[in-house]
Amino acid sequence: MDLLSALSSRRPSSLIGTLLACLAIILLSRRLIRLRHSRSLKVPYNQERVVILGASGGIGRAIAHKYAARGARVCVIGRREVELAKVVEECRAFHLSHNTGAIRAGGSTIFSVAADFTNVEDMVHIRSTVEAEWKGLDTLIVCAGVSALCPLMEVAGLERHGQTFTPAQATMEGIQRTVNVTNAAVKGNYVGPLVSAVTFIPLLASASASPSILLVSSLAAVIPPPTRSLYASTKAASLMLYQVLAIEHPEIAFTHFIPSTVEGDFRTSAVDSGRVREAEPNKHGLKREAVARRCVEAVDEGERMVFMPVILGRGGQIGQLFFPAVVEWIARRKYRFSAI
Ligand SMILES: *[C@@H]1O[C@H](CO)[C@@H](O)[C@H](O)[C@H]1NC(C)=O
Repeated sequence: MDLLSALSSRRPSSLIGTLLACLAIILLSRRLIRLRHSRSLKVPYNQERVVILGASGGIGRAIAHKYAARGARVCVIGRREVELAKVVEECRAFHLSHNTGAIRAGGSTIFSVAADFTNVEDMVHIRSTVEAEWKGLDTLIVCAGVSALCPLMEVAGLERHGQTFTPAQATMEGIQRTVNVTNAAVKGNYVGPLVSAVTFIPLLASASASPSILLVSSLAAVIPPPTRSLYASTKAASLMLYQVLAIEHPEIAFTHFIPSTVEGDFRTSAVDSGRVREAEPNKHGLKREAVARRCVEAVDEGERMVFMPVILGRGGQIGQLFFPAVVEWIARRKYRFSAI
């Protein structure tokens, strides 16, 4: 029965049945398209060359483990040298314990470069090192970033009492401090991904049989969260940047990964030195390991926009369209924010 006759028959059960059938067909065809993608035919797991920016902790570190465990060549980048050395050790152990019988194309299998991904000189150095070791790159994972946790007027040094503030106005110094904090957020969440893309896109496009870039973004970049104005707006900027780049570079498979709250110490390094507000992110947050697994799967299957969990992301988007006030209420509750 087609949709029109189902609609005209006025039998709710047949209408629901038709809608379910449509949904099943859509989901099945998406699955088939993904199967056709089968990147591993072009880039076998044990020959994949992967650079991970922001690998000294959190999601990046867990992603490094995943790639190492299936025999990939992995270059881990981060600012904390001591932690990076540990990540290299862990990756080598994973790599050995899962002996994949890899045929090496030469170059180091696992290595690290201590670098700041917002620093142009550092990034060009990484590119030369990767080119010298591997003669190219297949997968770029961009998951470095900074957090910011305060309402904007608090960053400016104002205390709020309903509609009035102490001091009554933002001072020159307070506004300047807000600009300084914003610059740090822009640097970590926007300039870093920008420099990464400009540095690596030509190498990926020219020297891989199936080039991929994964950006770890955030649900905050899509659904406005109170107390996260600087974090959300800078993450939104880099998400939009990568969405545009995906259109400008169809030869590269872009994955935009959008998780909700993830466990870990990411929030403790906030550029505004704000406090964590949501209820125990380490208990209720997504597990890093699960997030890393989903990231690798999304790259393998060439998925464009991936929400985790799907229900929060897509539900939030649909909610924003039809019940924006409800989505705002949920966001206020999650961040325990009250405007009074
Ligand atoms: C803002 O940053 C500038 C340059 O880094 C610094 O000289 C200044 O003291 C900072 N101002 C505030 C209010 O934090």
